[in-house]
Amino acid sequence: MAEIKVCSPAELADGAVRIVTVKNLEIAVIKHDGKYFAYHNHCPHQGGPACEGVRMPQVIDELDENGRLIGHAYDKDDIHIVCPWHGYEFHLNDGVNVSDKRIRLKKFDVIERSDGVFLSV
Ligand code: FES
Repeated sequence: MAEIKVCSPAELADGAVRIVTVKNLEIAVIKHDGKYFAYHNHCPHQGGPACEGVRMPQVIDELDENGRLIGHAYDKDDIHIVCPWHGYEFHLNDGVNVSDKRIRLKKFDVIERSDGVFLSV
């Protein structure tokens, strides 16, 4: 495994994504709530730039005591990466597709040290 420097620790703002190309692979490094995540920026559906779309929390149905829908809420602990081409959604924490666990984004390890943020590839 090699370490590839992505940026300095303060360089990537929270909520931002940086695309780096390593060994002909486009890898997206995402910073969310101070944590880093890295995925192959290639959607398993039709090859779209999966990590360049919006990120949004899981929507949760709110039901009354009779099971009737009374509203919606957001689960901010379950952020989704939404592919900009056709809307496939993947859990930010592990890259697994929200609707079909057999589909996932390829995940890479991110190492944060005082001298930088690195991809392990
Ligand atoms: S290419 Fe990503 S949803 Fe279709």
